[in-house]
Amino acid sequence: MKLIKLASITKKLCVGAVGAFLLIFLPFHMGMNHCILREDGGEWYRNVCHFMGTNYVVKVFEVILLACILLHIVITLILAIENYMARPVRYAVPNKSKTGVGSKYMAWTGGILLVFLVIHFVDFYFAKTGLVEGKYVVKTEKVEAKFQEKVQQLQEGKLKEEQAAELQAQYMAIQTLPQDKVAKDRKYFVNLSKKEVATYCGKDFEDYEPDFYNMAKDKFKNPLYVLIYLLSFLILAIHLYHGVASIFQTFGLNVKKYTKAIDCLALIYAIVIPLGFAIVPIIEFFFK
Ligand code: HEM
Repeated sequence: MKLIKLASITKKLCVGAVGAFLLIFLPFHMGMNHCILREDGGEWYRNVCHFMGTNYVVKVFEVILLACILLHIVITLILAIENYMARPVRYAVPNKSKTGVGSKYMAWTGGILLVFLVIHFVDFYFAKTGLVEGKYVVKTEKVEAKFQEKVQQLQEGKLKEEQAAELQAQYMAIQTLPQDKVAKDRKYFVNLSKKEVATYCGKDFEDYEPDFYNMAKDKFKNPLYVLIYLLSFLILAIHLYHGVASIFQTFGLNVKKYTKAIDCLALIYAIVIPLGFAIVPIIEFFFK
């Protein structure tokens, strides 16, 4: 029985194409994360995140990426259900096929990665969309400009009494701003909660961005969190090992002559990428 009327091969081609796109995203994301490890108070990572959050080409890419992840999940789920339904009588003898661990447990590793992605999105991505509260960063020159604008309005008698009091409170608060709320280059206020943004920048200040640098550093101080991430990267390795090889197979590129080379490539990718991701929580937790 077919859940959606497309030949299995069409669905597999879709999963393969989408999977290949995701394989391109991972090295980019990994490289970007390595900026967290620089001892520059987050300057590089902040710049990269700012670019990612504001560039229109990246925004389009992000929409395609999220659609690909969703498509990958939905189609693989449909294929798994169809395969299951095509075999109503379970085999009495356990399957002793020679396919590797990754192939046998693709659905399981995929499911665990989905749980990881939900946790990961709640931690980071949702802070960008405003669905959850995170920590924020603001440019000091923008706060200064807004402050001066209000001082001007005050001098012109355009501010109400309570707005003037707010301005006074903001001035006082900035005088006592803790040092850990100021970036190394002093160009940013960092690690601010939404309440602190209102306190230090004014209630109507909206020019803030998520402070992914401090959010990631905070998360990787927590041993449970580090463990969840490292286990997820191990699962990612298993998923990728089979995933890369099966993309070649789906597109008919896995001819016998190249089987060994493709297997080797899949192995290298499946080790290098998860290890590259793992370096960040490992260094942050054990060496900083
Ligand atoms: C050390 C490990 C990781 C860190 C510190 C990290 C950090 C982040 C951050 C800060 C964001 C939000 C960036 C933004 O939206 O501008 C993000 C988004 C995202 N992450 Fe990760 N990530 C890690 C590992 C992973 C892994 C292993 C995957 C996939 C299996 C992944 C998939 C995604 C996706 C799909 C997004 C949303 C798309 C995007 O904004 O580019 N991340 N990650």
